[in-house]
Amino acid sequence: MTPTDPAAPGTAGTAGGSAWVITGPTSGIGHRTALELAKHGTVVLVGRSPAKLAAVEAEIREAGGSAVSVTGDLADIPSARRAAREVAALGLPIGGVLNNAGIMSMKPFSSPQGFDGTYATDHLGPFAFTEALLPQLADGTHVVFIVSAVEDPERVPAVRAGFRGSRFISVEASSRGEWLTDGGSRLPGADAYATSKQGNLATALAFAREYPRLRFSAIEPGVNPGSNLSRDASPALLRLSKMLAPALTLLPHFTTPKRAGRVIAGILTGAGATGTYYDENARPMRGSHQVMDPAFQDDYVRQTRELLATVPDAA
Ligand SMILES: NC(=O)c1ccc[n+]([C@@H]2O[C@H](COP(=O)([O-])OP(=O)(O)OC[C@H]3O[C@@H](n4cnc5c(N)ncnc54)[C@H](OP(=O)(O)O)[C@@H]3O)[C@@H](O)[C@H]2O)c1
Repeated sequence: MTPTDPAAPGTAGTAGGSAWVITGPTSGIGHRTALELAKHGTVVLVGRSPAKLAAVEAEIREAGGSAVSVTGDLADIPSARRAAREVAALGLPIGGVLNNAGIMSMKPFSSPQGFDGTYATDHLGPFAFTEALLPQLADGTHVVFIVSAVEDPERVPAVRAGFRGSRFISVEASSRGEWLTDGGSRLPGADAYATSKQGNLATALAFAREYPRLRFSAIEPGVNPGSNLSRDASPALLRLSKMLAPALTLLPHFTTPKRAGRVIAGILTGAGATGTYYDENARPMRGSHQVMDPAFQDDYVRQTRELLATVPDAA
């Protein structure tokens, strides 16, 4: 934890008296959403880099808001659970939790527990973080997952971009970095990413039925070439996509982190119904046939719990 006082006069608990927890606030969509959430109360920033967290915390404070940071690596399951315990220990009145952190890595890598790095960062870690936090949340708290429509093999713009939807075999196979290969994507990292993000959506929809005292939603934030999601692409490609980002917003589904941040903060702090999957304009949408099946969602959660039960907390 870094030492911002969440109870500093005139800041903490203002605008509704709630605190808003966000993972991945140090870049892209999460950064802009954190700045928006600061208009609604104290922001609890959860990230893996203390230096980057301190910079966002300072930015929020300079703008008159209040923030506190908790360090945690979501690819590392014990670290994700520890971060949840630290968030709870702050004792703040949590109004909402935003599972935003994520990566799309072009090259496979391993998490500290030896799981596929993308799957651990995008699904297993956020799942472990959320489950560790749930018992501490007051009735009505809104928990939101930032997902991705690329999980749907029938999503036309994603298919045009080279995605082939989720290539799910099982949670255990995903944790080993194994995806359905027949008909898979030629884009490096696309199958791992699409399969992992389907895990977020299945979790949000299953939890909405399993925990009726809370509210769960999922958001497809739109295509954000201005974020750093494709950070391991070539520097030239990254520069080009950031340069073109403003013009690309004229295309359907394209947006900017700033705009996405406003939409996401509005949904998180709003009173929408549990179990809703929103598009980039905050309109309800549907996921793939596979993920909209409640039996698939429940089995996904069951398999995830079974796998995570094999990971002890660090001594
Ligand atoms: N960009 C898009 O077009 C798009 C479309 C659909 C969905 N999304 C989703 O939107 C979310 C935000 O992505 P973005 O586009 O804003 O990407 P981004 O700019 O790369 O931001 C990702 C954030 O996640 C954090 N993060 C990554 N690995 C982490 C780990 N192991 N532990 C803790 N934090 C970690 C990063 O922290 P560091 O700063 O320390 O790296 C950063 O704050 C993701 O869930 C992504 O899947 C994005």
